[in-house]
Amino acid sequence: MTAKPARRAAAVRERAQTSAALRGAARSPANDAEGTTPLRIRPVRRGDLEAIIALDAHVTGVEKRDYWRAIYKRYGEPSAERKFLVAESGSGVVGFVIGETRDWEFGSPRCGWVFAIDVHPDARLAGIAARLFEAVCAGFRRAGVRKVRTMLDPGNTLVMSFFRSQGMMAGPFIQLEMELE
Ligand SMILES: CC(C)(COP(=O)(O)OP(=O)(O)OC[C@H]1O[C@@H](n2cnc3c(N)ncnc32)[C@H](O)[C@@H]1OP(=O)(O)O)[C@@H](O)C(=O)NCCC(=O)NCCS
Repeated sequence: MTAKPARRAAAVRERAQTSAALRGAARSPANDAEGTTPLRIRPVRRGDLEAIIALDAHVTGVEKRDYWRAIYKRYGEPSAERKFLVAESGSGVVGFVIGETRDWEFGSPRCGWVFAIDVHPDARLAGIAARLFEAVCAGFRRAGVRKVRTMLDPGNTLVMSFFRSQGMMAGPFIQLEMELE
């Protein structure tokens, strides 16, 4: 084995060990503030809004209070079509996912769209986004949907790695855009 593959193998091993350790920590009661609360995936509540605004501002560097109020108004009420779920640990809301089913848009039969997923940097690599994604997909399945889609910046390798790890692959559509003067 040359030096490069050996280094890569060591890095993969190290990442797997770190990931396993963090997963264990996330499942361990010692990981939450009270020492008793396991991670829970549940529909969003109005009282979660401040934590979500803060989490998004922390991740993106832009606070979008009005945007999140509007999103809550549109997706906050659980329904078969619209899903807004949070991951809650002993320390509060540590992640969220938003998605909805759409009928015949772009000529496509009904499918599910995931348009936002975020996990607090301190809680990452512990399987939380995977659980959020699984939960939103389970909701889509219950609504009779058999395909899920998303859209992302191909330069965002973190989000790309996550969605690829969940089994998502390039779809048949391309995105077009132009400037409006
Ligand atoms: C992408 C994101 C949601 C992943 O959350 P997470 O809870 O850390 O993800 P998980 O622990 O469930 O990881 C599941 C899989 O995704 C992949 N993955 C996650 N983080 C990764 C990383 N840093 N590097 C490479 N692969 C990664 C892995 O395959 C991982 O499985 P493994 O740990 O068994 O290898 C999180 O990093 C995040 O919020 N990033 C910012 C999101 C963002 O930019 N949002 C704005 C646009 S919507």
